[in-house]
Amino acid sequence: MADQDYIVADISLADYGRRELDIAETEMPGLMSTREEFGASQPLKGARIAGCLHMTIQTAALIETLTALGAEVRWASCNIYSTQDHAAAVIAASGVPVFAKKGETLAEYWEYVDHIFQWGDDPCNLILDDGGDATMYIIWGARVEAGEEMPAPSNEEEEEMQKVLKKRLAASPGFFTKTRDAIKGVSEETTTGVHRLYELAKEGKLPFPAINVNDSVTKSKFDNKYGCKESLVDGIRRGTDVMMAGKLAVVAGYGDVGKGSAASLRGAGARVIVTEIDPICALQAAMDGFAVMTMEKAAPVADIFVTTTGNKDVITIDHMRAMKDMAIVGNIGHFDNEIQVGSLANLEHVEVKPQVDMYTFPDGKRMLLLSQGRLLNLGNATGHPSFVMSASFTNQVLAQMELWTNTSKYDNDVYVLPKHLDEKVAMLHLAKLNVELSELSDEQAKYIGVPQSGPFKSDQYRY
Ligand code: NAI
Repeated sequence: MADQDYIVADISLADYGRRELDIAETEMPGLMSTREEFGASQPLKGARIAGCLHMTIQTAALIETLTALGAEVRWASCNIYSTQDHAAAVIAASGVPVFAKKGETLAEYWEYVDHIFQWGDDPCNLILDDGGDATMYIIWGARVEAGEEMPAPSNEEEEEMQKVLKKRLAASPGFFTKTRDAIKGVSEETTTGVHRLYELAKEGKLPFPAINVNDSVTKSKFDNKYGCKESLVDGIRRGTDVMMAGKLAVVAGYGDVGKGSAASLRGAGARVIVTEIDPICALQAAMDGFAVMTMEKAAPVADIFVTTTGNKDVITIDHMRAMKDMAIVGNIGHFDNEIQVGSLANLEHVEVKPQVDMYTFPDGKRMLLLSQGRLLNLGNATGHPSFVMSASFTNQVLAQMELWTNTSKYDNDVYVLPKHLDEKVAMLHLAKLNVELSELSDEQAKYIGVPQSGPFKSDQYRY
């Protein structure tokens, strides 16, 4: 291993990172009580975790929780714009190998993903992923080693991944198979990554167990919703300083992220239109008081556009051509292909500042694109606040502990954490908000048919 086993933008930012991390800890009761409860027994001793998740201050608190529980960790960000350089610096300075810079290139991004798997003779044995890139890297590498042909890359992202993967195949024969076979499981943070895992499981191609952290209630119904409610408008404001009140904003998708995003824009005084393909979510949006229409109808009239679907080609080049002068366009879903950014390549373009680009169409009309279509709350701002990330990351820590200590309980399939743990995560966050919980009497518990101390809902309950 090289002497300096990290790549960060500026290691001298470590002290600043520590000061912000100290503040974050006061807002992350779930993580802090997990350290208290499990620190002494070191349940993650022996665990070597390859982590690929936005390298923010909140993630630094997650990393320090994993190491406090005995794990060794190597880390990269899961997006080229989401790193907070002072967060990466404080983690590097603490001796944890981290490979992440805000504004890294796609080539660097995949090199860094490769670096988190470089453990020397003892390969990593757990993955903590956000979006599935790290997991797919190992799975594809092992499949190629087994003789399978990789499909031709369909975008720049895949092209760069394949370049790095081929380099590793040539440098370290058998590396991917050995790593894959050592991995006891993956815990996955987000909707898009979970989707990829279920696809693999359906095809019988998931090589290790996976815990779907996203679908813990205390993750998707909080981070995706209340997190975006705070961080979406934050990103638009830091990017553009535009007056939000009175503007017409479009939110594509009314799932958890869409609900939070629409609430964020409404809270800032914007008038909000929603687009949906699912009648249930469209009806929810309408009954929450939003106009629901197609992107074709909304494109020429709105001022701000945000995609939240996890789908591709949601804002097309034709939609962008139809927009008004100085429309603001951004995405908060996991991948940038929600917007047809590639088709802007031939337009006249200036970088206003990092992560804010102005494009001019042939007719002179201008458009502001945030974070090149990558998730704008992390590209233009600092992502979700610590408190909500504490809930997400407490689920992550519990999932890693479960995969590490109860390996034999799990087949190569996708699981969610049991409800009693979900309720525990929520419980750990109540005191901070001075929430007083009512208690069921014995008779009441019997009457509604639940144990007096929970779980309080069936697995079918939707919250
Ligand atoms: P979800 O599945 O709850 O919601 C997506 C919604 O988009 C669904 O209701 C779906 O019907 C709708 N949709 C799909 N195609 C559409 C189209 N062409 N036009 C209009 N609507 C369409 O997923 P969730 O949890 O809301 O996540 C959305 C994306 O955000 C994912 O990529 C996820 O990974 C990402 N995410 C980003 C976060 C951030 O901080 N930036 C936080 C959490 C999730």
